[in-house]
Amino acid sequence: MQPVPPLDTTYWQQRYEIGQTGWDTGAITPPLRDYFNQLGLPDSRRILIPGAGRGYEAEYLHRAGWPNVLVADLAPAALEALQTRVPGFPAAHLLLADFFALAPTPPFDLIVEQTFFCALDPTLRPAYARQCARLLRPGGTLMGLLFDTEFSQPGPPFGGSRAEYRAYFEPYFDFVHFDTATNSLPPRQGRELFICLKRKAVLAQDDR
Ligand SMILES: C[S@@+](CC[C@H](N)C(=O)[O-])C[C@H]1O[C@@H](n2cnc3c(N)ncnc32)[C@H](O)[C@@H]1O
Repeated sequence: MQPVPPLDTTYWQQRYEIGQTGWDTGAITPPLRDYFNQLGLPDSRRILIPGAGRGYEAEYLHRAGWPNVLVADLAPAALEALQTRVPGFPAAHLLLADFFALAPTPPFDLIVEQTFFCALDPTLRPAYARQCARLLRPGGTLMGLLFDTEFSQPGPPFGGSRAEYRAYFEPYFDFVHFDTATNSLPPRQGRELFICLKRKAVLAQDDR
């Protein structure tokens, strides 16, 4: 088995440069679109899309009038693609940054997950859950999709199961929804969980 290279800026930037972006659906996916559509009229909510890639969800929210949508990604090529496609997207909302280095100042109301968690080294999963909780205000929402399957190829993407994921999020979140998505894209049908988690009011001292 080939060793996994460090999943750093160089790795991800190169994936974009050589066009190895099999995760890229080219448009917002139905589960996220339907969730956004039921949020109602745009408001000042601060929304973070970490590991946003080319940012189709950010584009959708921006075009729908949501003013405070921020994306974070390590790869300049990913953010450049969003900027080129959507020139009106605020440059200040394109964060060329490591998700784990983001600060909760001010905190976010909503974090959107899609094929970012599965792209991380699995040893970072507990830190991902903790960092999402740290970035959200109490009662803030982490929503999106997690693969509920194992992959035959070495990752990324790295697969997993709902039981495994539950253990990461339970310390910080109340579970509103955590079940197989019903409106996935056909190749992902039955293989991904739709999650909607509310950050607990109080975090343990060590997790702030
Ligand atoms: C599999 S891609 C998914 C992109 C996008 N969410 C999508 O569904 O098209 C993972 C993305 O996460 C970014 N990424 C990986 N590690 C990161 C980190 N620590 N902080 C921010 N972005 C990261 C990569 O550059 C890449 O764009």
